[in-house]
Amino acid sequence: MSASREDVLKELGLTPVWRLREGAQSAVAESVVAAAIEPVPAAEPVVVRGLPKIAPLDARATEIATLEWPQLQQSVAGCVACPLHKGRNQTVFGVGDEAADWLFVGEGPGAEEDAKGEPFVGQAGKLLDNMLAAIQLKRGRNVYIANVVKCRPPGNRNPEPGEAAQCEPYLHRQIALIKPKLIVALGKVAAVNLLKRDAAVASMRGKIHQYQGIPLIVTYHPAYLLRSLPEKAKAWVDLCFAVETMQNLQSGKAAQT
Ligand code: URA
Repeated sequence: MSASREDVLKELGLTPVWRLREGAQSAVAESVVAAAIEPVPAAEPVVVRGLPKIAPLDARATEIATLEWPQLQQSVAGCVACPLHKGRNQTVFGVGDEAADWLFVGEGPGAEEDAKGEPFVGQAGKLLDNMLAAIQLKRGRNVYIANVVKCRPPGNRNPEPGEAAQCEPYLHRQIALIKPKLIVALGKVAAVNLLKRDAAVASMRGKIHQYQGIPLIVTYHPAYLLRSLPEKAKAWVDLCFAVETMQNLQSGKAAQT
């Protein structure tokens, strides 16, 4: 990232407000608008390495949980477990440092990601890169970026619960291999799928949640921030909270809420 920190904050529309400082920045209480999530449908027939063509989700998950990076990548690339595979140009596995302390999880690839095979390379990705730069992080350097689903949902719609369920073993295995110190869920789809809890982002921010024993915090999705300027300031509060949480984790002071 060649842009200066001031450039970054300017790009985010936050100058002169955003200032990285020490200490927690508590989240403001906000109204909660709960949205219903549909139940996850039953497992569908799938193809996975070493398994017959028809394998239920739990058998796939068990197999995927044993895969190392190259096989995992191969398995994702050949996945036809849900209808999203029909519309993809390629799968979007994830990118970054495989031993990263930071894991950022988005929703699913858009058109540009589907074309390039890398997460967050479009406009939302540029903002994500700027958000990372604002807290002295960089894609690929102690940072891994992944999505809930690895194939582009048509028309950039949200992934259906059944699609997310079929893809979940992949993200789960990525997390198990990376062993991040902190997960940052970008937006509601990531938060709801990781936390298995239906709530608005506004009500999940500012807290340390847990994903299988790994601290997880929630902030707004960069694509949403591009459409909603006032929320950028809240995202900055969340990033400061993430930095402080990481500092505590690195120094062994794991704060919990
Ligand atoms: N939005 C996401 O959630 N993920 C991407 O990879 C790109 C846009």
